[in-house]
Amino acid sequence: MPTRVLTGITTTGTPHLGNYVGAIRPCVIASRRTDVESFFFLADYHALIKCDDPARIERSRLELAATWLAAGLDPARVTLYRQSDIPEIPELTWLLTCVTAKGQMNRAHAYKAAADANLAAGEDVDAGITMGLFSYPILMAADILMFNAHQIPVGRDQIQHIEMARDVAQRFNHLYGQGTDFFVLPEAVVEAEMALLPGLDGRKMSKSYDNTIPLFEGGAKALKDAIARIVTDSKLPGEPKDPEGSALVTLHDAFGTPEQNTAFRDALRQGLGWGEAKQRLFELINGELAPMRARYEALINQPAELEAILMAGAAKARAEAAPLLQRLREAVGL
Ligand code: ADP
Ligand code: NA
Repeated sequence: MPTRVLTGITTTGTPHLGNYVGAIRPCVIASRRTDVESFFFLADYHALIKCDDPARIERSRLELAATWLAAGLDPARVTLYRQSDIPEIPELTWLLTCVTAKGQMNRAHAYKAAADANLAAGEDVDAGITMGLFSYPILMAADILMFNAHQIPVGRDQIQHIEMARDVAQRFNHLYGQGTDFFVLPEAVVEAEMALLPGLDGRKMSKSYDNTIPLFEGGAKALKDAIARIVTDSKLPGEPKDPEGSALVTLHDAFGTPEQNTAFRDALRQGLGWGEAKQRLFELINGELAPMRARYEALINQPAELEAILMAGAAKARAEAAPLLQRLREAVGL
């Protein structure tokens, strides 16, 4: 039986180059393995926890769907769906909520961080904290258990939430299973510490720092303009430059072959000007992205086609979710 791997992407922003190198490209490659069955979903119920701007969520959902498809995700071999198209997920969330210990949710990292920050600021412990933030590990458990996913690729901060999903699955199996297990116990797969892509200012590229290079939005011109704004030292053309610690070099490493990356370092040591270096970097990155960007633009301008792909993905996902939920309803007495 293939290993089921499930990945959710929160629909709150526009994908940037860091997302592509750190998440999108490796996931697309992994999805082509024949021993893996991949589930990808646009986590728009999760988006509601941090974003109350409907236009932003809708736009982000469209951009993310187009991005994943343009980057090579094949909807025929993976299950790609919008979370909010699967009504079984919120229903399962409620069944799980009823068997989840509140004390365990009190200890969930995301909630605890917000509560601790409130206490440190001398505020009420729960000031500004919604029930969505408090109980989102249960929604996350439902996302995972609904499809009996075996492996969940996560960052370290999410390991605890996968453990919570295992606990709640075990409790449900124990209470209602009568010898049969409804749920597979999921495992967290912690992503190898991969090099973080730096942003325009040299810090980690992140939408929180407003230092991102857009992946497809704005076309080749936006890519070129962003690369032109990457901070460098003030050495002139002809002066030898230290490649180590340069954001340009780290970005180059993420796209070039080992030979190309060595040549780029050598050229900088020999005095390549920053302007010329940026031009080379642009050409390298654009060479990989240009064919994808063309697909992205075609998709984003055909929302009806995207919608059809997502609806087909939802039908595929619900063919799994609906029969399981029916069994769960019967098990609890509904
Ligand atoms: P952001 O920091 O812009 O809010 P997210 O937290 O939404 O990005 O990250 C989504 C995915 O992209 C995660 O899997 C994360 O590991 C990856 N990612 C984000 N920023 C980078 C980066 N600078 N370098 C490598 N991977 C990144
Ligand atoms: Na596969």
